[in-house]
Amino acid sequence: MATTVLASQPQALENKVPFFANYLDYRSDPLQFWMDVGRVGPLVEIQLGPMQKFWVVTDADLFQQILQSKSKNFPRDRQIRQGNAIDNGRTVFNAKTYEEWRWRRRLLQPGFHKRELAKFAESMVTETTQLANEIPQNVSVDLADLTKKLTMRIICQTMFSASLAETDVLQHAFEQTSYFGFKRMSSIVNVPHWLPTKLNLDTKAAVTDKYRILGKIVDERLASGQPKDDAPTSWDMLDMLISAQLDDEDEMPGAERSFSRDDLIAEMSSLVFAGHETTAMTLVWLLNKVATDQTIYQKLMVEIDAVLGDRPPTLDDLDQMPYTHQLIQETLRYYPSVYVTLREAEADDELTVGGATYAVPAGRQFIMNIRGLHHSKEYWSNADQFVPERFSAENSQEWHKFAYQPFISGPKKCIGDQFAMMELRLVVPTLLQRLTFEPASSHPAHQVKEAAGFVMETDKPVMMRVKSREI
Ligand code: HEM
Repeated sequence: MATTVLASQPQALENKVPFFANYLDYRSDPLQFWMDVGRVGPLVEIQLGPMQKFWVVTDADLFQQILQSKSKNFPRDRQIRQGNAIDNGRTVFNAKTYEEWRWRRRLLQPGFHKRELAKFAESMVTETTQLANEIPQNVSVDLADLTKKLTMRIICQTMFSASLAETDVLQHAFEQTSYFGFKRMSSIVNVPHWLPTKLNLDTKAAVTDKYRILGKIVDERLASGQPKDDAPTSWDMLDMLISAQLDDEDEMPGAERSFSRDDLIAEMSSLVFAGHETTAMTLVWLLNKVATDQTIYQKLMVEIDAVLGDRPPTLDDLDQMPYTHQLIQETLRYYPSVYVTLREAEADDELTVGGATYAVPAGRQFIMNIRGLHHSKEYWSNADQFVPERFSAENSQEWHKFAYQPFISGPKKCIGDQFAMMELRLVVPTLLQRLTFEPASSHPAHQVKEAAGFVMETDKPVMMRVKSREI
């Protein structure tokens, strides 16, 4: 009979130095740090500086408990919910309470229904074709510049039909706020917002630009009386959010029944933020793999050419391209854009793993170690090898559902997961039908490695020589 061991404390990470505790190890290489902590055990206590204690979770059953079965008691942690004084619109992402999160998610959800998303497929392909035509041939281009421009155009077009000029300003503004977010996340003391540091000033200017443009777009839309009821097939996400209504007030006391002007601006901002760099960096890693691994490239192109020839992809083609799908899934396993996320226990609770029960005090903060989980040998054979076929229909039963968490699971899972997968499955063939990507240098010193940013970045620019493909 299995015995239950009552353990009130998880294993604590050693190598603490006075004041900093584990912070210096973390600071020297955050990605390696999370990987190393994951190898110590399923639940490990770390301390970053004198004040910040976290439990690091690298176990599929614990992911299931925290994100799904006990999710109500484990909201995003206080830093996310407090937001920051520079950019503090209220959204589904930083909702202060479960009730607030719930009514916001209920208003957003219909816009992400599969039927509504299908309307965006054509824009995704059109934007990709246009960008492919603009790329200068035979010169080295920075892959992240290219993919960030592309995903920004797609998200601004599908969310609120922005012009290209607005999209360019928004791209700069969003990348600055993401850089600011990462700097704050990885710093041991938070520099006050009112100090005139370069980071604070640049971020304030970016946030002002962002709200000016989003405010103008939302105001013009509201003033125009759109959306018109008779043309929902051409609605963008903003139209859908303006028309979203809750009808069962009783079920959600205290809920807003529809989004206010300020809600619309903030939610739009949060959707662009959530969907821009995450998707762009997934494309960078995927295209880098395709450019450096001939076996993967050949297998992918055989599929794309057989299904599409030289016509653009549509949604109906996607099921005929399983290898493209597997390649995207493996990219998200190996290089998850969101490599960690944070949770916090609202009330005292218990978590169980491997026959041990841990008493969780209210206020305990958790690092959900997504990348550690995706590379755990316990769940993945050849965990550190890139093998798209592990996601084929015949192999898919082999892995634990909660060991694959690129979009996380449970009620707060990414609302844009289907949007992102559809975008990636359309963009990859559209780009590769037209273009070839060749590393600008094969020198080992130019090989890229993962690096921590707000999302997972590369440690150096991925420079590629892009050419038109001869079909
Ligand atoms: C490859 C692309 C993407 C990845 C890897 C990704 C990943 C994630 C993850 C891991 C979360 C959960 C974060 C947490 O709970 O702490 C999340 C939440 C979220 N994502 Fe995504 N995401 C992607 C694309 C998108 C897109 C395209 C959109 C919108 C168009 C989007 C909108 C959101 C929103 C609104 C949330 C918060 C949901 C809620 O609180 O209910 N994401 N995403």
